[in-house]
Amino acid sequence: MLIKTIHNWELPEASATPEDVFWNRRQILQGMGLGAATIGAGALGISDAFGAADPTLDLYPAKRNETYKLDRPITAEKLNLEYNNFYEFGSTKRIAEAAQALPIRPWEIKIDGMVEKEFTIGIDELIRKIGIEERLYRHRCVEAWSMTVPWSGFAMSKLVDLAQPTSAAKFIRMETFHNPEIAPGQKPPLFSWSNKLPWPYVEGVSMAEARNELSFLVTGAYGKPVAKQMGAPLRLALPWKYGFKSIKSIVRFSFTDKQPVSFWETILPNEYGFYANVNPAVNHPRWSQASERVLGTNERVPTLLYNGYHEQVAKLYVNLGLPPHVLYR
Ligand code: MTE
Repeated sequence: MLIKTIHNWELPEASATPEDVFWNRRQILQGMGLGAATIGAGALGISDAFGAADPTLDLYPAKRNETYKLDRPITAEKLNLEYNNFYEFGSTKRIAEAAQALPIRPWEIKIDGMVEKEFTIGIDELIRKIGIEERLYRHRCVEAWSMTVPWSGFAMSKLVDLAQPTSAAKFIRMETFHNPEIAPGQKPPLFSWSNKLPWPYVEGVSMAEARNELSFLVTGAYGKPVAKQMGAPLRLALPWKYGFKSIKSIVRFSFTDKQPVSFWETILPNEYGFYANVNPAVNHPRWSQASERVLGTNERVPTLLYNGYHEQVAKLYVNLGLPPHVLYR
């Protein structure tokens, strides 16, 4: 996520920020305890080390669902393990080592709000109850870089079925864990002049989006349980939306009749909206969305409407009558 200097706090990304501004910013963030984590050898093979102890390891690699095809090669796993946005663990892309502090078992997921009966379920029970498959998806960050990832997990519609929402439910609000003890990014800022960030990370989707065939709850990647820095043990993948909608390390799904206000929308409402559908014709207020840098090759390729998933999702938005700055930001 790319943030400019506003509200006395900021979260940097070098690729869309002039370098001098970026480095200046990083000094501020380091002062706040949000600087880069040092990457050691241990963090680079994380998913292997973690996978050995995972109670669902026997389910991997999951059978690939061939419906979802890519138009470019899969991004190398190593790259994906080392280049992450997970602000709970720092404001740079190098948070892999810091993220290893996240305890992911036991991991309880709460289903509440407008459902027949609220309940809490352990991640392993949830995974075994629903089962998993593999899908190859494109992943386009709002910062204008992209990847292609072999995710494992299950359709979000299956979780909706399990939750049994009432007819009053129109949206699902999701929350990430909140534990400043292990996540340095969630600690209160050191300087009194800097604003407090609205933790925990929150995201939301409409019920129609949640039921769309593409909405995928991720439990694994690259044929094994998903690595902590990529959002273990449960994250979302919404491939037609900018990556910030794909919330990591989810602990709660609340069914509601109110449109949720996300983490980024709370911080920068003029830059990040609820829908955040990929559209090359609608620029971010501070940079173009017309093309993207493919991680690995660094090739710049044109960005596609709905990130190439027009056929599956365009129908969700035709009758909403919303202007582009609402649908595509
Ligand atoms: N979820 C949480 N909880 N915290 C975050 O900082 N970053 C988002 C999203 N989900 C984020 C998050 C952003 S901006 C992106 S682009 C993707 O995660 C990055 O996922 P990746 O690291 O697997 O590429």
